[in-house]
Amino acid sequence: MSVKDQINLEKLPRHIAIIMDGNGRWAEEKGQDRLYGHFHGVESVRNIVEGCAELGIEYLTLYAFSTENWDRPLREVTGLMELLVETIRKEVPTLNKNNIRLHVIGDMSMLPDYAKKALEEALEMTSHNTGLNLVMALSYSSRWELVEAVKKIAVEVKEGRLDPAQISQDTLEKFLVTSELPDPELMIRTSGEYRISNFLLYQLAYAELYFTSTRWPDFRKEHLYEAIADFQKRERRFGKTSHQVQDDQPVNPSVTG
Ligand code: IPE
Ligand code: IPE
Ligand code: MG
Repeated sequence: MSVKDQINLEKLPRHIAIIMDGNGRWAEEKGQDRLYGHFHGVESVRNIVEGCAELGIEYLTLYAFSTENWDRPLREVTGLMELLVETIRKEVPTLNKNNIRLHVIGDMSMLPDYAKKALEEALEMTSHNTGLNLVMALSYSSRWELVEAVKKIAVEVKEGRLDPAQISQDTLEKFLVTSELPDPELMIRTSGEYRISNFLLYQLAYAELYFTSTRWPDFRKEHLYEAIADFQKRERRFGKTSHQVQDDQPVNPSVTG
C-alpha cells in the first residue's frame, strides 16, 4: 500500500503550514550558488501546492521569506525576492486553472514597489477562486505580527471603541494577519532544523510538529503524504487526558449514530 493510500481523507488537516528550509545547503552541497537552491525550491512549491490541492487541503501556508531574512547578503535577498515575485506572477494562470486562491501575509512595507504591485495583481486575479487557499508568508515574522496587532488594539482602546476588560483571545486573533484562517493543525519543517524561526508563534499553539531532514528542493508529494500519515497517527489531546479524548470519540460511529 502506498503512503498516499494510508491517508484517511476524512481526517485531513484543514491547514498545513510549512517552513521551506534547506535551499542554500542543498545548493552548496552540490558545489552551487545558494540561489540555485532557491530556484530548485520553486519546483517543490509547485509539487506540494498541487499535492495539497489534489488531496483537498483547504489552507496551505508556506514560509517563503522571514523578516530576519532581510539581513542576508544583498545579492541573495535581491535574487530571492525577484524569484519569488516572478514565480507568483508566472503561476497565476495555473492557480486559476486549479481554482487556487492566493493570499500573502507579512510586512509588505518592506517590499520593493515592483514586488508589491505584482503581488497585488496576483491577489486580485485569483480572488474569485474557491479551492485551496495558498498563503505565502513573505517578509513575515510572528513577533512583527504580534507587535502590529498590539498597536492596532491600543488605537481601538485609545479611541474608545474597545474596553480593555473585554479583550479576549478572539480580540487578539481578529488583529492578526491570519484572522481569516483556521490555525494550522500540522506544521512541517524541512532540512533537519528543529525550530520555529519566528513562524506563526500564536497560531501553532496546538499544531502537530513534523520535522524531516529532507532539504526543501528534494521535498515532494510523497514526503507530504508521509507527514500527513504521521499526523493522523497522533492523538491530539488539547490538555485533556488520553481517556477523555478517547471517550469523546464514538467507537463505532455507525452504531452510536
Ligand atoms: C530556505 O532555505 C529559504 C529561505 C529561508 C528563504 P535557506 O536559504 O534557509 O537554506 P539553508 O537553511 O541555508 O540551507
Ligand atoms: C526560516 O528559515 C525562514 C524561511 C524558511 C523562510 P531560516 O533558514 O531563515 O531560519 P533559521 O535562520 O535557520 O532559523
Ligand atoms: Mg535556512
